[in-house]
Amino acid sequence: MNNKLQELQGRIMAQLEEAQTLDRLNEVRVQVLGKKGELTAMLKGMKDLSPEERPTFGQMVNEVRARIEEQLETAKKRLEEKELTARLSREVIDVTLPAKKERIGHLHPNRIAQEEVERIFIGMGYEVVEGPEIEYDRYNFELLNIPANHPAKDEQDTFYINKDIVLRTQTSPVQARIMEKGKLPIRIISPGRVFRSDEVDATHSPSFHQIEGLVIDENITFSDLKGTLAQFARDLFGEETKTKFRPHHFPFTEPSAEMDVSCFKCGGKGCRFCKGSGWIEILGCGMVHPHVLEMCGIDQERYTGFAFGLGLERIALLKYEIDDMRLLYENDDRFLRQF
Ligand code: DAH
Repeated sequence: MNNKLQELQGRIMAQLEEAQTLDRLNEVRVQVLGKKGELTAMLKGMKDLSPEERPTFGQMVNEVRARIEEQLETAKKRLEEKELTARLSREVIDVTLPAKKERIGHLHPNRIAQEEVERIFIGMGYEVVEGPEIEYDRYNFELLNIPANHPAKDEQDTFYINKDIVLRTQTSPVQARIMEKGKLPIRIISPGRVFRSDEVDATHSPSFHQIEGLVIDENITFSDLKGTLAQFARDLFGEETKTKFRPHHFPFTEPSAEMDVSCFKCGGKGCRFCKGSGWIEILGCGMVHPHVLEMCGIDQERYTGFAFGLGLERIALLKYEIDDMRLLYENDDRFLRQF
């Protein structure tokens, strides 16, 4: 065999055997068989040989080429196996190690209370709807019978975006929004966040939550209001719970009342919880004011209704015997996990 060819074959075979990576293999392959490779160059050089020499030389080159290709294949298999073994040992998983515990959060007491209230009213056929937290003065005040200079506006001072838009001070504007849509009868509750410019203390926060309720239909009376809310109180606080309605004033209901429930701690005897009175105030309610019905486009000759509003935090604090509202807003997981 041609000396040069023999030298080439020996050198390349050795290189292939020594190669430690697939990249290196490829390098060697290009160096011999590539377009500018050594073997390719030899084939090109054949034109300088005499016509008699050419066939033998050509055959030799092809043989060398075949041997190199075969060796390449073997080396490739060897290296691929090596890499796989290395990877398997690198990625080995110790299934006996203890698993990392996922820390998941906990339902907030507000949320638990909200879902409980929702469950009770959904059971009575109510629908849960939501309204915007940034609200027109018109819905938050005007349509609820609280015109520009009404003193009730003072008690519910809030954050003004501009003169027509406020952060809602109550969930009651949802009443006006739903009535305005004109689809009757109405039986809804509406939970959500409300805002007032209150100082933070154990019982106040500039942002808290309410649940609003509204029923409008033909022949709705104060008895429906009382029956519904008394049943709600029994479902929420226990079957023995008694209710008491005290006359009150809200601009958008007439007559209006506040509802107290018998203290579920002492059963009404009087304790620290109910400040000795045996009763705990829970919500505001009343028959929807005819003027409100009229402003919201509902025929007040044909339809009547009742509404109520309760503070969600208050329910959560009472139910879980939490004595400082600020605890509800710290989102300390150690606190939340207790409920
Ligand atoms: N929106 C009232 C408040 O924030 C609560 C309320 C009272 C809502 C009577 C009502 C209602 O729907 O009828 O103090």
